[in-house]
Amino acid sequence: MKKVLVTGGAGFLGSHLCDRLVSEGHDVLCVDNFFTGSKRNIEQLLSNNRFELMRHDVTFPLYVEVNQIYNLACPASPVHYQHDPVQTTKTSVHGAINMLGLAKRTRARILQASTSEVYGDPEVHPQPESYWGKVNPVGIRSCYDEGKRCAETLFFDYWRQHQLEIKVVRIFNTYGPRMHPNDGRVVSNFIVQALKGEDITIYGDGQQTRSFCYVDDLIEVFVRMMGSESDFTGPVNIGNPTELTMLELAERVLKLVGGKSKLAFKPLPADDPKQRRPDISLAKEKLGWEPKVPVEEGLRRTVEYFRSALTQPL
Ligand SMILES: NC(=O)c1ccc[n+]([C@@H]2O[C@H](COP(=O)([O-])OP(=O)(O)OC[C@H]3O[C@@H](n4cnc5c(N)ncnc54)[C@H](O)[C@@H]3O)[C@@H](O)[C@H]2O)c1
Repeated sequence: MKKVLVTGGAGFLGSHLCDRLVSEGHDVLCVDNFFTGSKRNIEQLLSNNRFELMRHDVTFPLYVEVNQIYNLACPASPVHYQHDPVQTTKTSVHGAINMLGLAKRTRARILQASTSEVYGDPEVHPQPESYWGKVNPVGIRSCYDEGKRCAETLFFDYWRQHQLEIKVVRIFNTYGPRMHPNDGRVVSNFIVQALKGEDITIYGDGQQTRSFCYVDDLIEVFVRMMGSESDFTGPVNIGNPTELTMLELAERVLKLVGGKSKLAFKPLPADDPKQRRPDISLAKEKLGWEPKVPVEEGLRRTVEYFRSALTQPL
C-alpha cells in the first residue's frame, strides 16, 4: 500500500481518484486550494482514516513524504482558468516545478494530468501523441494551453536530467458526476440548462465535434498508467474516441431530461477548436485500456447527479 498525494483532489476528477485510491487501501493525501474544488466532492472520505485533506496552493513548495504523486491541480474549464490567467499559468508551471521537486526529494513516481489542449486547434485528426499541435501562444486560452505544454516540458526535463519516474497523460474531454454546474463545460452546461428548462446554448453552428469520456473510464486509466512499466513515460492520449457534434450532444441530453428547452445559437468564442478526437492506439497497446461506458449510460448517470445536486447549495 502506498502513500499517495493527489493535488487538485477536491475537484471533479481528483475526488473520484481519491475515492478509488482509498478503496484500494492506499493512504491518500488530498491537497487543494479550493479554487474550483469543493468539500462536498470529498465529504464521503473525510471520516476515513486513510484520507487526509490539506488546504494548500501548489504554487508554493510542499514538504511531505509520499510514494506517488498525481498532479491534477489546475482549473480545467475556460471560465475558471480565464478568471485569473496569470494564476493559471503559475499553477501549471510553478505547480509542476514544486511537485517535481517533491518527487525528486522523495523519489516518488509522478503523474501529470495534461490535456488535449496541448494540440490547440489541430490540423491533424484524430490527434496522435506524435502531433506537436497548433497553439496560439498569446490568446485567451494560452494561459492554460501553454501552461500545460510547459509543464510537460518540465516533466520530460526532470526525467532526462534527474531520472524521475514520470507519467504524462493527455486527457480529452471527460464528464460525469461532480462536474461544477457553472463551469461552462458543454456537458454540464447542456444538462443544467435542460434541467432548469432554459434554452440550450450552442456556439457557432453546432457542427464542431468533441469526444466525451465518462469519468470512471478515465480513473481506471490513471491508475493503470501510474502502475505501468517504469520506462513508459507517455505522453499518452486518454479519452473516448466516439465523436459527437454539439447538436447531437444537445439532442441526446434533451431526450434524457425531457422538458421544453430550445436551442439558442451564439457566436463561437475565440480559438475554439473545431474538432477534437483522441487517437488512443498507444493507451490500448501499452495499458490494455479503452473506454467501456457508452455515452448514453454516462449521460444518464450525470443527469441523475445534477438532478439532485441542483437542489443543494454548492
Ligand atoms: N475534466 C476534463 O475534461 C479535463 C480535460 C483535460 C485535462 N484535465 C486536467 O485534469 C485536472 C483536473 O481537472 P478537473 O476537471 O477535475 O477540474 P477541477 O477544476 O474540477 O479540478 C481542479 C482542482 O484543482 C484545484 N486547484 C486549482 N488551482 C490550484 C492550486 N494552485 N493549488 C491547489 N489546488 C488547485 C481546484 O480547487 C480543483 O479542486 C486538471 O489539471 C485539468 O487540467 C481535465
